[in-house]
Parts: sequence; structure tokens; C-alpha cells
Amino acid sequence: MPLIEARSLSKIYMLGKTEVHALNAVNLTVEKGEFMAIAGPSGSGKTTLLNILGCIEKPTEGSVLFDGKNVAQLSGNQLADFRLNHIGFIFQTFNLIPVLTAIENVEFPLLKMPLSKRERRTRAQEALESVGLGGLAHRKPDELSGGQRQRVAIARALVGRPNIVLADEPTANLDHATGLAVLELMSDLNSRLGTVFVFSTHDPKVMSMARRVISLVDGKIVEETTVP
Ligand SMILES: Nc1ncnc2c1ncn2[C@@H]1O[C@H](COP(=O)(O)OP(=O)(O)OP(=O)(O)O)[C@@H](O)[C@H]1O
Ligand SMILES: [Mg+2]
Repeated sequence: MPLIEARSLSKIYMLGKTEVHALNAVNLTVEKGEFMAIAGPSGSGKTTLLNILGCIEKPTEGSVLFDGKNVAQLSGNQLADFRLNHIGFIFQTFNLIPVLTAIENVEFPLLKMPLSKRERRTRAQEALESVGLGGLAHRKPDELSGGQRQRVAIARALVGRPNIVLADEPTANLDHATGLAVLELMSDLNSRLGTVFVFSTHDPKVMSMARRVISLVDGKIVEETTVP
């Protein structure tokens, strides 16, 4: 069974009386173990698609099945719980909490889980170590470089041990070398732990690291390439 099956997803935003068709009948299957990219020009629907797959937004039409279960059938609380336990999200702008240290930021999603304080700390520390930041746990975001902040955001997305991480342009704010290092880290986690990654990108180098690329134009999938 695929991890995610998105069927005929459409999203219409209303701007006053004008309809904006952000996604048009998108069908997408994400298999377990995948490392895939979503490409496409600005405004093509990449963020909208990631937000819907990540259950942050609801589609206007269509459905998202996770492990065969339709997420639309979950109540608000069940959905929050489901996201907490299964999905990690990396936002383009990092979204770290400035007053918290790196380890406190990573620990944040665990506060809602039934874990002891010590377990939470240990897991947050391990997540930071997995992204090579074990030694910088007590720095605040403004005491870290852009690439280090992005890695804190990755650690935070991973700390709940999700089955899938959705990453919206995870390298867009990074210089080229740091961006590739972040991608290599994600690829390594994919091979070692089997964590599925779906990331959007504009960068051809980053795209070339994916094993499957789907291209969106005007909210439709126009091309799909798979690396043999
Ligand atoms: N909240 C909203 N209200 C109205 N229109 C929206 C909203 N969010 C997105 N859109 C529109 O939906 C379309 C898809 O937007 P989306 O953010 O998914 O594109 P994108 O591919 O992520 O673009 P970018 O590469 O610039 O991040 C665009 O035309 C955008 O203007
Ligand atoms: Mg976007």
C-alpha cells in the first residue's frame, strides 16, 4: 500500500469574488521510502500541494489517503494527533521560535507527546546530533548561520520520528553549498531510516538529487521523471 494517495485534488482560493485555481485535479501517489521533488514555476501550486499533503490545508475537492485512511474523516483533534505522530514539516522560512534555544525549538513538538522531560531532552539532543548540531544545542536562532537554522528546523521536523517529512523549498534561503549539504543530510536520513521526503524546489541541482520529480504548471502535473 502506498504511504499517500492523493486523488483528484483541487484547491480554489477565493479572493473576494474571484476564484484562484491553485490546484486542478492532481493525482499523486507517494510510496514508502521515496525521496521526491516537486518542481514548477512560482505560483504553480507547490506550497498548496505540500500543505494539503501535510494536512495543514484542506482541498476544495478530492481526498488524501494516508496508509489507505482518508484524513478527511478525522476530527480536528485526531488530525492534530495524526500530524504530530506521522508528519514532519519544514517551512521555507524555518519558523523557529527566536526566544528558545536550538534544543528547545527541537523539543517543542514533543511537549504534546506523553514523554518524560528526560526522554524529551534526550530525543531532542539526538535529533540535533543527527543533523550535526549536537554541540550548538544551547544557541538561539540568531546565534546560528542560515544553514544551521535550517538544520535545526530539520531536526524539529524529525524529532517526532515521522514517516514523512514535507519540506517547502528547504534550500531556498541557503547558499548553494549549504543547500546541497542540507539535501545530502535529508538523503542520508532517507537511506538510513527510510523517512520519506517530499520537497519543493526551484534549484536544478537540488532537483537532480531526487529519485522522482513531478513538475507542476498552473496547478497541474505536466511531467514526471524517475531516476532509474
Ligand atoms: N491564501 C491564498 N489566497 C488566494 N490565493 C492564493 C493563496 N495562497 C496561494 N494562492 C494562489 O495559489 C496559486 C498557487 O500558489 P502556491 O503558493 O501554491 O505556489 P508555489 O508554486 O508554491 O509558488 P512559489 O514558487 O512562489 O512559492 C498562486 O496563484 C497563488 O497566488
Ligand atoms: Mg511556494
